[in-house]
Amino acid sequence: MESMIIEGEQRLAGSVRIGGAKNAALPILAATLLGNGSCTLSNVPRVVDVFTMSKLLAHLGARVESNGDLTTVSVDEISSCRAPYELVKTMRASVLVLGPLLARHGEAFVALPGGCAIGARPINLHLTALELMGAEITIEHGNVHARVLGRLRGAQIYFDVSTVTGTENIMMAACLADGTTVIENAAREPEVADLAQFLITRGARISGAGTDMITIQGVPALHGADHEIIPDRIETATYLVAGAITKGDVTVERCRPDHSDALLAKLREAGAELMIEKETIRIRAPERLGCVNVKTLPYPGFPTDIQAQMMALMAVAQGSSMITETVFESRFMHVLELQRMGAEIRIDGNHAVVTGVKRLSGAPVMASDLRASACLILAGLAAEGETRVGRVYHLDRGYEQLDQKLVGLGARVRRAPERP
Ligand code: EPU
Repeated sequence: MESMIIEGEQRLAGSVRIGGAKNAALPILAATLLGNGSCTLSNVPRVVDVFTMSKLLAHLGARVESNGDLTTVSVDEISSCRAPYELVKTMRASVLVLGPLLARHGEAFVALPGGCAIGARPINLHLTALELMGAEITIEHGNVHARVLGRLRGAQIYFDVSTVTGTENIMMAACLADGTTVIENAAREPEVADLAQFLITRGARISGAGTDMITIQGVPALHGADHEIIPDRIETATYLVAGAITKGDVTVERCRPDHSDALLAKLREAGAELMIEKETIRIRAPERLGCVNVKTLPYPGFPTDIQAQMMALMAVAQGSSMITETVFESRFMHVLELQRMGAEIRIDGNHAVVTGVKRLSGAPVMASDLRASACLILAGLAAEGETRVGRVYHLDRGYEQLDQKLVGLGARVRRAPERP
């Protein structure tokens, strides 16, 4: 296992290029299962979760070839309909193969993911919706076993909680269903809209993706297609915060500013100077940013996947801010680690009250999940002295070459074997 070692207090400056969105690439890769014909995806991020999804697809019968940011997948036939626990436990998004397998093959066994570091994360809404579409679902030996005789049926689905992968699973399943499916209170995330765009290019009939009501008219089959994955808005946010927390001057290239409105509004409110063009965002930060309150919400609200990074920024801002997490019930694991670095944070239920300190102090800390890792590295960039972030394998699940990109901006970051 490796740690990341950061020597803090280096001002970051320069440009960094953003890769494709992990959370768009994962469902789009899963959606290749929905038909034969080859699909070539570009701007695919080279991150461990994408490699895991490719491994899972190969296990199910797909031919997957990758070259740089291009991945070509063809699935002439499904040779296995089992997503094994070994893969699912390392990546919850494996559950995204459930809808496609059921729709194309009529049967799927997908290991139940279980709890994770940021919350219970059940998949009950995915399962109830598939049942409404005619699937018979049982839980056996830790697996979801889903079956349907013939085709799934179009149905009226209402999600009482906005669920990203739930919306994606049902949208994929509905593409090959008999009749029309309407998803109400659908997730509006750009990654859902990107998946819909890919499916439409493959011949699916979908309208309303990106809004809270999506209508899918089933078609008998999908064909192959090429698609470019949208830029990663969470990676974008992470580098903007890196620029802000080091009082730097960072330009984020090849991003989608229109997918980052909530964050940009908060950074501006805190006093950062932002220069926005079609595909670039430049951030310049003053000596010390002001505090802002943040409440995580489904898109277009402030993303839960940036809550931890924003908390690192507020930990050194002037004044007190209230950070409220409403999407996941235990996504404050980074707080204790930030406290080890001298942050003043008080937790009250799903609120964290962060009182900015002038300077954090470098310390050995432990990452608990992907975004918590990013938060601790950002804190390390601002801290005095050396910060050693343990368990950085979490980071490699969702960030492509974060250390090298930071070094390109002038940071002093390196990897080292984890101390026993
Ligand atoms: N929920 C239920 N029942 C369900 C599904 C969800 O109660 O059947 C609840 C969850 O427990 C949670 C809320 O609904 O409280 C929202 O969860 P959602 O289903 O939207 O999350 P997800 O689809 O499992 C995706 C991203 C996460 C991101 C969340 C929220 C992917 C592969 N993952 O997860 O990304 O945090 O949406 O935006 O798209 C990350 O990249 O670090 C990450 C965790």
